[in-house]
Amino acid sequence: MRALVLAGGTGTRLRPFTYSLPKQLVPVANKPVLVHCLENIRQMGVEEVGIIVGDRADQIREAIGDGAAYGLRVTYITQAAPLGLAHCVKIAAPFLGDEDFVMYLGDNILVGCLAETAERFRASGSPARILVTKVADPRQYGVAELDETGRVTALVEKPTQPRSDLAMIGVYFFTPAIHDAVNRIVPSRRGELEITDAIADLLGHGGQVDAEEYTGYWKDTGTVADLLDCNRLLLDGTAGAVGGTVDAETVVQGPVVIEEGATVTRSRLVGPLTVAAGSVVEDSYLGPYTSVGRSCHISGAGIEDSIILEGARVREVTGIKGSLIGRWALIGSTARPAPQHRILVGDHADLEVAVA
Ligand code: DAU
Repeated sequence: MRALVLAGGTGTRLRPFTYSLPKQLVPVANKPVLVHCLENIRQMGVEEVGIIVGDRADQIREAIGDGAAYGLRVTYITQAAPLGLAHCVKIAAPFLGDEDFVMYLGDNILVGCLAETAERFRASGSPARILVTKVADPRQYGVAELDETGRVTALVEKPTQPRSDLAMIGVYFFTPAIHDAVNRIVPSRRGELEITDAIADLLGHGGQVDAEEYTGYWKDTGTVADLLDCNRLLLDGTAGAVGGTVDAETVVQGPVVIEEGATVTRSRLVGPLTVAAGSVVEDSYLGPYTSVGRSCHISGAGIEDSIILEGARVREVTGIKGSLIGRWALIGSTARPAPQHRILVGDHADLEVAVA
């Protein structure tokens, strides 16, 4: 079995971060979302992976390379424009050949191994197997209707009036029969070749589509709130490990990861949290569910429940919570009397200043 990972697209809901970084490379628990996907694929026993890339291809290639670091062999497939999930299957057809494959959306995070699901798919002989989960608001997902045996009877992409509360998760198992279906469908109202339509087409041509309910943690990391939620969940599962330098005045409580090459002085760290290599933390409080990326400089700061991306600096600002701070950003305080603020933020930034 091969894997097809979708890492093109636009990521408009994650602006401004996605102006300079593809959404699949935003880190969660200090690892890009895409790396979480690739690790999950490797756990299924798959080694041959095609990654669909769009206009941010260079950054994705640089981050993932040939895949050897994850025990995979990666082939990059360029999509000229984000024309839909089924379009990705179409352009990947030469790579996929006549093999079965798992299609994995590069912005989805699932906690838990899918090897048994892959096995059930192989054993079933059905042309497709999807994963579904109950959600409060199905309107933003592909929605499946099932019969009592777990077979899919109908599928609709982002319905305004959903007929079930079962959302399709971004992991799909296909036999090569999907290629004919993809070639039969036409673009949807939003101009995309929808994978949901291709699967519905399989059904329409008498193919059996199996579904299984996924009850583990799953998130489509489309928004900042989703990323922070994932960060909390993944940090909750980490064991502490101090590989960097921590001075005697620093207090460490709970599971705290300090990677080799990071330095912490005169600070209080309350896990679960992680500080990546090359970062410096001094005279600061880092609270639960904080991920500090590589080469950050945090001094005189107070931060919890936040993701700090590579190279960011936070100086003398406390009370930072529920925040995502972009690469090489600078958050600092000023000697000017309150309430004067100097604000220099990029397009689509989101800044909340507390008022006394
Ligand atoms: O997350 C689950 C949902 O994912 C499913 O419930 C929906 O049925 C499915 O259509 C999909 O909906 P989204 O609107 O969330 O898809 P999105 O546009 O975010 O794309 C998913 C991934 O595929 C993302 O990593 C970007 C990539 N992509 C997307 C398109 C449209 C491509 O590589 N090329 C594309 O043309």
